[in-house]
Amino acid sequence: MKTHFKGFRCFRCGAEQGVDFGGYVCPACGGNLEVRYAWPKWGVEKWWFDDARKDIFRYRALLPVSKMELASPLRVGMTPLYEAPRLGAKAGLKNLRLKDDGQNPSASFKDRAGAVALVRARETGAKVLCGASTGNAGSSMACLAASVGMPCVIFVPEKAPAAKIAQLLVFGAKVFAVKGTYDDAFDLCMEVCAKRGWFNRNTGHNPFTREGKKTAAFEIFEQLGKVPDWVVVPTGDGNIIGGIWKGFCDLKEARITNHLPKMLCAQSAESRAISEAAWKLQKAGGAPDDWKAVEIAPVAATTVADSISVDIPRDGLAAVRAVIESGGAAVAVPDADILAAIPEMARGAGVFAEPAAACAWAGLKKAAADGVVSSDETVVCMCTGNGLKDVASARKVAGDPIPLENSVEAALAATEGLG
Ligand SMILES: Cc1ncc(COP(=O)(O)O)c(C=O)c1O
Ligand SMILES: [Zn+2]
Repeated sequence: MKTHFKGFRCFRCGAEQGVDFGGYVCPACGGNLEVRYAWPKWGVEKWWFDDARKDIFRYRALLPVSKMELASPLRVGMTPLYEAPRLGAKAGLKNLRLKDDGQNPSASFKDRAGAVALVRARETGAKVLCGASTGNAGSSMACLAASVGMPCVIFVPEKAPAAKIAQLLVFGAKVFAVKGTYDDAFDLCMEVCAKRGWFNRNTGHNPFTREGKKTAAFEIFEQLGKVPDWVVVPTGDGNIIGGIWKGFCDLKEARITNHLPKMLCAQSAESRAISEAAWKLQKAGGAPDDWKAVEIAPVAATTVADSISVDIPRDGLAAVRAVIESGGAAVAVPDADILAAIPEMARGAGVFAEPAAACAWAGLKKAAADGVVSSDETVVCMCTGNGLKDVASARKVAGDPIPLENSVEAALAATEGLG
């Protein structure tokens, strides 16, 4: 099956590039690029989806890569979409679903981006995969690179949680723990990739990561049998929310559906650069005449949710556009609410989320309480990372086991009244 990939368009200034463009960002203004397609006039038929594949490449007719023999053999995507009525009831929501992307090969949503980036890297003859990461993008890249035996170099902030660093190392990536923040690691990685000519997978900077992320929209559409009213996305750099929004826009442009969801951007109050920019635009009446004029002011992020702790969002404009153009909203919640959301999701739906992923549920609860999301609307809440990635945070709120003497009498006495 051929790809309909026809080039790139700049998010900021709209300048277009052809398929042969070998760079990463807009040569005219430095803005991030989005991948464009030339869909057939009559649209894309759903039967073009490849039933033989049980991963994101089921949607390869809507992706910018074609050499499937270069894809990782690992199963990426096709994650479950669970009904979550008991959890939903806690926020008065009657139609809540959880999309559990913690079930990807490296246990986070980032595998979707990595899977497409890997094919692109190999199609263009890259010898080394390189990226900066708060942890998940890196562990995903390391995992996927290992699956095809490709060298991989990752820059992480020195404070990335131990489990994420362990993942990187176990998959055999060369890991540099940068003395500084994620933003420092990102800038350093950019310089090294440019000087060494390595494939740069950095979020936002590389337009192919967004293409992988958009596949979650295709799955939601198929699993639900329709486009939901809301999709809730925990947000740091803004690439996931922009990617999922693009997926729904592609479905519409390819004439597979006429509907679009509203996007809810969920952030920590301690890392909310994108929300601030979205609120400012909403106050001023919505979409600006010129997206180039929109500035996203950096913040000094301190959130416990390491995956969404971002000073300078690397795909901020795409995220703000997703919120504004979808008629959606942005919410920011305190870290205490994010941590409390971990056991709530686990106990209310059986899904264990890392702090960043739990931010989606915490944000959705706030949006429901504020009347932004109403009880009858169909809501898909993205669970972007598995809770085992950061057990230290979970232990802060999960409680403690009950000490017990090793005797039947003591056990019976202690379990009295438990049913
Ligand atoms: C688990 C998890 N959730 C949410 C995000 C936020 O994605 P983005 O930085 O693209 O907004 C990330 C990114 O690292 C993540 O790993
Ligand atoms: Zn541009």
